[in-house]
Amino acid sequence: MMIKQLITLFAAFLTCHVSAAEHSIIPQPVSYQKADGYFVLKPGAFVYASHDVVGFYLKQLNDASGQDLRMAPADASCAIQFLSGEMRKGQDKKLEKLGEGEYHLSILPTVANIYADSASGHFYGLQTLCQLLRTSEHNDGARTLPCAEISDAPRFGWRGYMLDESRHFSGTEAVKRTLDAMAYYKMNRFHWHLTDSHGWRIEIKKYPKLTTVGGIGNLTDPKAPAAFYTQEQIKDIVAYAKARHITVIPEIDMPGHANAAVRAYPQYSGGKSSKHGEFTFNPADEATDAFLKDILTEVAALFPDAGIIHYGGDEVHFGWDKWPELPQVKKIMEKDNLKLKDVERLFNQRLAKVINELGYKTGGWDELSGAGLPRDKTLLFWWRHDKPQALDYALKEGYEVVLCPRRPCYLDFVQHESHKSGRRWGGFNPLADTYGFPDALEMPENYRGKVLGIQACLWTETTVTQERRDFMAYPRLLALAEAAWTPTKRKEFANFESRLKLHLPQLKQRGIGYYDPFTNSPEITK
Ligand code: ACM
Repeated sequence: MMIKQLITLFAAFLTCHVSAAEHSIIPQPVSYQKADGYFVLKPGAFVYASHDVVGFYLKQLNDASGQDLRMAPADASCAIQFLSGEMRKGQDKKLEKLGEGEYHLSILPTVANIYADSASGHFYGLQTLCQLLRTSEHNDGARTLPCAEISDAPRFGWRGYMLDESRHFSGTEAVKRTLDAMAYYKMNRFHWHLTDSHGWRIEIKKYPKLTTVGGIGNLTDPKAPAAFYTQEQIKDIVAYAKARHITVIPEIDMPGHANAAVRAYPQYSGGKSSKHGEFTFNPADEATDAFLKDILTEVAALFPDAGIIHYGGDEVHFGWDKWPELPQVKKIMEKDNLKLKDVERLFNQRLAKVINELGYKTGGWDELSGAGLPRDKTLLFWWRHDKPQALDYALKEGYEVVLCPRRPCYLDFVQHESHKSGRRWGGFNPLADTYGFPDALEMPENYRGKVLGIQACLWTETTVTQERRDFMAYPRLLALAEAAWTPTKRKEFANFESRLKLHLPQLKQRGIGYYDPFTNSPEITK
């Protein structure tokens, strides 16, 4: 009995020990070594960083510390310095050059040095320091941090978040707030789902009705005034993201999910389906191809650094009932004895070629794995959690893949068993499941290099208000951020929870709402 009690006590001690927050950093860094002493940051202290970023860094540091830090004049003694990895190597020849996104933060009693060999590495070191400052002690206007050595680098190169703007529109302010949060948690891909059945949200100059007509309405109010981003707004958001090391990937969904577009330009419709209205573009028509090429050409110019244009390609069969009656489809089906799937496949091959010729890779949902698209120019997004074979197939075919299965990556799924509003599918997506992804996923070792990363997706059918979009996205987005950044051996859910407690008030300060898993806060249902 005595021994049993001792074991229980020891286990409880271990749990406490492992779970206690040693620091306030999310995502958990690869290594955090506490050192002796304290670093005291005083108001008016100097910061050294390269010219192109110092103003931006100072703003972030001042917001985080509430101090009036200043750019260092030449030869000044600095409190915070952004340095090259080479300079650290000067102290230890064994050190390697730091990779993309990698940084080392050395918090000494006299100075905090952030070493990196990439701009993103310095930026992520800055985020870590800002997180520590926001939760630091302050005495007489000074901020005090325990000394530490932090080495850190991303687990995955793709740490993504997808936002559906079609079903309900978010707008510039909310998107920028999202990008700020993503950057703070070291996420780097914003997959922007800009077109779908319930509204077209990106201005295309050559076809103004896409927004003036196709932009009208949303899922709950088909008469809502047109809501969309002008090209100027898009450029502004793309630049805002870029400054935060986030690449914006546009998604223009086709040939399905096209109702809003064909409402504006019915001549390009693929016909009315029984359940989903005029859901597709005409998949075998030269004029429709030219229309889509014009659109993609303008999209490409708006996202010069995206590298990828995502064109959806999902759920096409929802709307292909009337394809055989379209003269252009009928002709090729009869001539070549094609099935609907073959017509879809040909459409995909032509469209991907357009995108590739514009100088971009194509992104698409996992349905595209069978479309015969070029392996080196295609990135697939595995979303059908109930079809693991779709992931297997894509990897076996040699495609690169981003993992975003509905379970546990779709944030429109409910997150607590008591919640009424939102999706379920043999269960739901609690915080712990999102956090644990993708560690439990069985994947042969030789495929690992093909998995670029993971992504959360917020579909907005059930999120009418920004308040609810926040409620569904947070704090699961922080869990996904840690899952995407931190190596499996450093992940521990209870420890994440203890750090998360320090971040919920920070979300609030940013004007971001959230579900509070610690109090099971009331559900926001609309
Ligand atoms: C999807 O959820 N239809 C990609």
